[in-house]
Amino acid sequence: MFEQIQPAPRDAILGLTESFREDPSPNKINLSVGVYQDSTGKTPILESVRRAGQLVLERQKTMSYLPIPGSPAYAAAVQQLMFGAGHEVVVSGRAATSHTPGGTGSLRVAADFIRQQLPKATVWLTQPTWPNHPQIFAAAGVPTKSYTYFDAKTNGLAFDEALAAIQQMPAGDVIMLHGCCHNPSGIDPTPDQWQRLADAIHDRGLLPFLDFAYQGFADGIEDDCVGLRALCRPGAELIVCSSFSKNFGLYCERVGALTLVAKDKATIDTVQSQIKVCIRTNYSNPPAHGAELVTTVLGNAELRCMWEEEVAQMRDRIHGMRSLFVKTLQAKGVPGDYSFITRQRGMFSFSGLTPEQVEALKQKYAIYIVGSGRINVAGITEQNVGRLCEAIAAVVKGT
Ligand code: LMR
Repeated sequence: MFEQIQPAPRDAILGLTESFREDPSPNKINLSVGVYQDSTGKTPILESVRRAGQLVLERQKTMSYLPIPGSPAYAAAVQQLMFGAGHEVVVSGRAATSHTPGGTGSLRVAADFIRQQLPKATVWLTQPTWPNHPQIFAAAGVPTKSYTYFDAKTNGLAFDEALAAIQQMPAGDVIMLHGCCHNPSGIDPTPDQWQRLADAIHDRGLLPFLDFAYQGFADGIEDDCVGLRALCRPGAELIVCSSFSKNFGLYCERVGALTLVAKDKATIDTVQSQIKVCIRTNYSNPPAHGAELVTTVLGNAELRCMWEEEVAQMRDRIHGMRSLFVKTLQAKGVPGDYSFITRQRGMFSFSGLTPEQVEALKQKYAIYIVGSGRINVAGITEQNVGRLCEAIAAVVKGT
């Protein structure tokens, strides 16, 4: 029976890392997948996480199953990190958080929940978006549509188009927004624009769905909650998928969270009973270790302070690499004004390179970036920036 199965194409992002690994070129550069690298090109274990790991090891008494939604201590820590400890959503008990294997795991559980419990809803995705978004909803059987988010002419937010699209979306549909550091464009609404988008979403009777994978990589851990908090209205519903891959450097531990907010505690208890069914039929209950690390860091004053500094260092290094990248593009004579790259936020630069130029970078220079032209700025170093910009100059000039 297997002989009739056709091969699937490689993944739009992780498939590039597979190709990168197979590439024999000694000078190859991987700027595809969103993984932070330090100035030496290594993806470090954060010191706060390393120390938390020692504490976890010392106090761990069992490796028995966790509850279906994971540990309550982790859920409380995640809610406090996103909403703030005294926030009405937390105090009223109208939010429920489940620990999921990574942000992708939380997206899939949320998608299964939408398919089962909100079967008439369409999920509206930003155009462009992370290539895995449409795949996840399709795999769960949830219909998706797109709304314009990015304006290629200004390299900025297509705010008026997004607002106009929201005003046309059918009530009862779900609208996805990226909590900060929009993937792939790096363009976020301003605080004022968040308020206006949130007003429109609320007035239209849409369910906001926030993908929040880069908290701390735009302006700061607290500042990056501006969009999330704009969407928290009295009695209003919300879905948030968060990931700690990037801000804790816990990529391989797969630590994410799914938070749903309902009108009141009784409603969220019912909703959470359905989420538990989605989890149980998917991976049963989550793996413990990564969430233990996050809970330990967030619950220990010294480690938390150290972690916040480490996140700031990663953020500052990426900001620095953005400026260096733009300066080096100019120095290498790349035609055009690339200063917009310094206004983008988070790990990625939406460079404007065409699919043909991206392909030429790979074929001729062993430089791997995503087909949309998305470059992982967090992978640029002082050592590789020169070669990168020379290669971009050559492909842009068509030489
Ligand atoms: C990315 O966009 O590169 C990251 O979110 C990693 C992934 O799983 O695609």
